[in-house]
Amino acid sequence: MKKISIALIALLSASVMSAHADVESAHKLANKYLGIAKAINPEYKDFSAEDGKAFFNREITVKGKQVACASCHTANPADPGKHIVTGKPIRPLSPVVNAKRFADLDKVEKNFTSHCNDIIGRDCTAQEKANFIAYLLTADKP
Ligand code: HEC
Repeated sequence: MKKISIALIALLSASVMSAHADVESAHKLANKYLGIAKAINPEYKDFSAEDGKAFFNREITVKGKQVACASCHTANPADPGKHIVTGKPIRPLSPVVNAKRFADLDKVEKNFTSHCNDIIGRDCTAQEKANFIAYLLTADKP
């Protein structure tokens, strides 16, 4: 009995840790962007989840259509999204509910670059990325 409960505790804490790992890596990544953003703009002191939210929901006209990050990722980044062109489901963007997010930094960079270019016509700044991740980390569970 004792052996089983120890094994169970080990198992539980391992799963808690791995669920944590991507919130952790999202924090790390947000801090990396924060560092870059501060180096570029000393006026910028800290994350603003509020600015991240505004950025996420801001509609921009792309090829005559109003599009925002929220168009595919929904207004709540903890909810599953849907691609507006292909109709394909998209798993939630927030690392709070989707442990696979922000786990692979190369993938995150690649997605940022391609989506930012698609939507706003340029890569996002470090400040925008830092705020964006800070906002995703505040997302409510659905
Ligand atoms: C036209 C639909 C669409 C729009 C608009 C869109 N995305 Fe995405 N996004 C996707 C899809 C599809 C994926 C990848 C699906 C997956 O990994 O499950 C994704 C994934 C991402 C990821 C990867 C996160 C990770 O670690 O896996 C980031 C970051 C991201 N999007 C940021 C943005 C930002 C910032 C905007 C607004 C500037 C935006 N997206 C707008 C469709 C979209």
